[in-house]
Amino acid sequence: MRSKAESVNRALDEAIPLTEPLNIHKAMRYAILAGGKRVRPILCLAVCELLGGEERLAIPAACAVEMIHTMSLIKDDLPCMDNDDLRRGKPTTHKIFGESVAILSGGALLALAFEHLTEANVSSDRMVRAVKELAKSIGTKGLVAGQAMDLSSEGLDHRDVGLEHLEFIHVHKTGSLLEASAVIGAIMGGGTEEEIEKVRNFARCIGLLFQVVDDILDETKSSEELGKTAGKDQIAGKLTYPKVLGLEKSKEFVKRLKNDAKEHLKGFDSDKVKPLIALANFIANRDN
Ligand code: IPE
Ligand code: IPE
Ligand code: MG
Ligand code: MG
Ligand code: MG
Repeated sequence: MRSKAESVNRALDEAIPLTEPLNIHKAMRYAILAGGKRVRPILCLAVCELLGGEERLAIPAACAVEMIHTMSLIKDDLPCMDNDDLRRGKPTTHKIFGESVAILSGGALLALAFEHLTEANVSSDRMVRAVKELAKSIGTKGLVAGQAMDLSSEGLDHRDVGLEHLEFIHVHKTGSLLEASAVIGAIMGGGTEEEIEKVRNFARCIGLLFQVVDDILDETKSSEELGKTAGKDQIAGKLTYPKVLGLEKSKEFVKRLKNDAKEHLKGFDSDKVKPLIALANFIANRDN
């Protein structure tokens, strides 16, 4: 995981040079090079390798998903959204650069993600498929739908909403991009239809798992440990798994999702899936 994160960090540094418009590029670099666990790009690279592709084939895609993820964090932290001052252990992008530059740099990261993805040395068939997968995962069928529902559900009494409502939010706001990261890795790696579907099912489980753990960490860790403001979900009246199920049941759900995820890897070479199993364990057991 560490070596993959380093490859991605190097590629991101090169992909976003400090050119004009200087302030926008500064903000983009500030947000994306600030650290971060790099879970989505690592997932993308690991899946590409699982299916026999070389890491370098998926590096542009890995950078693209991290650019989009960072864009989503910049926007998520804006005063009109979650209104957060701390991200990745530093003041949020709008705190340093102002809201207009933060919004523009988010838009620029989104645009650059697609431009950069097309640098990958794969057939145009695979590329079109990857572009469609990524676009679909972050619009009104994916991340935007989840974020919209997350915001409109603030303050709802959890006894009035079903688990499906909560699951919809989490699967869309967070799961969709994780799923796309894995599927695009599979496409870059030349996976068959059957392999791509298995990978998709694995990633669906770890996508939801990722956000359930995020909800738990918000309640159980400190801002220093998280590098972002802890305890905000309750203050903002967010609909979360600990709020609806309680902490213990949420932790049990994490275990179940982790096991379900691993089930979907059966049928692949047992040595080759080790990095993905390690990643699933990391996502379930992480403490930031
Ligand atoms: C935070 O994502 C936002 C969520 C989708 C929960 P990460 O926990 O992956 O944040 P970084 O990239 O490591 O900062
Ligand atoms: C964020 O969920 C999901 C996206 C950024 C798309 P949260 O609002 O829970 O993420 P954090 O806790 O601020 O990182
Ligand atoms: Mg949010
Ligand atoms: Mg937030
Ligand atoms: Mg959160």
